[in-house]
Amino acid sequence: MSSSDNFAQRVLVWFDQHGRKDLPWQQSVTPYRVWVSEIMLQQTQVATVIPYFERFMARFPTLQDLASAQLDEVLHLWTGLGYYARGRNLHKAALHCLAHHAGDLPADLDALQALPGIGRSTAGAIMSLGFGQRAVILDGNVKRVLGRHQAISGDPAQAQVGQRYWQVADAFTPKKSVAQYTQAMMDLGATLCTRSKPSCLICPVAEDCQALALDAVVSYPQKRKKQALPERAVWLLVYQRMDSVWLVQRAPSGIWGGLWSFPERERELFAAELPDDLQGQLLPPFKHVFSHFQLHIHPLLINQCDDIDAAVHESSGQWVKLGQLPNLGLPQPVAQLLQRLANKRSGS
Ligand code: ADE
Repeated sequence: MSSSDNFAQRVLVWFDQHGRKDLPWQQSVTPYRVWVSEIMLQQTQVATVIPYFERFMARFPTLQDLASAQLDEVLHLWTGLGYYARGRNLHKAALHCLAHHAGDLPADLDALQALPGIGRSTAGAIMSLGFGQRAVILDGNVKRVLGRHQAISGDPAQAQVGQRYWQVADAFTPKKSVAQYTQAMMDLGATLCTRSKPSCLICPVAEDCQALALDAVVSYPQKRKKQALPERAVWLLVYQRMDSVWLVQRAPSGIWGGLWSFPERERELFAAELPDDLQGQLLPPFKHVFSHFQLHIHPLLINQCDDIDAAVHESSGQWVKLGQLPNLGLPQPVAQLLQRLANKRSGS
């Protein structure tokens, strides 16, 4: 297809001059480094990912290092990045590679997709960026570039529309310089073909961009209908004994699976369950927004209890010193709350 060859060529020339080439995962490229970066970048912006990626690589320079680590430590390095299932899957996939692929990522699209946390586009990115093999990607940035260039109608989440996107992505992916092309398409989407106010005047593929010809660039790709996020509330029991608080490890799956948090109760349970001699002080509530709901968090500080050890009856818990962030995976709101409690105690 000559027009698509030409598309890739223009994108590659643009990349040579304007693409990003100094990102940490573009240095000392290995499939492992590409994989970790792609997982971190799935729901998180480049600027946020960079320090997390660097800390992660300093601690786990190879897939074997990651596989032999405790999940707790992996999640600790994930604290603040959110979407912790990504960290759990990364660890699980590393163990799988150790057991079934001689300790390396497999250089095979299907085998990559069989690993937890790796979908079609991430597998394509690992194949092209990590192994230098021709493979197709279609992440949010690329979807925007192609959806506009080809004026693809319909919601990309619908199966038929999605297929059309993959067909176009495949047709445009060149045989040579595929790693540069992959990175170039991500960069084009992130820097010029932005969601709002795209820079069409300096875009290398504006000339035959169909959405631009229709003067409708920002109408593509079609947006998913937004639904109001449901709301939930939870009460966190902050047991405090001198300068320590009691944390429990959450069940391995579900929200914040495997992370450490305060014992929690829903509204009806919590008043009924507390021992009579126990006095609680409600701290200011705050909100945490997940991708699929909003959580109103009500911390209840409990520090006047005759026998706090008896009150603390959760099975797998530990006392954690305030002011010394423990080497555990903590959900962001819990890390915040610990910081507030430490400040409160030191009077700052
Ligand atoms: N987003 C996803 N993958 C990326 C990459 N390799 N570089 C920059 N942004 C990205």
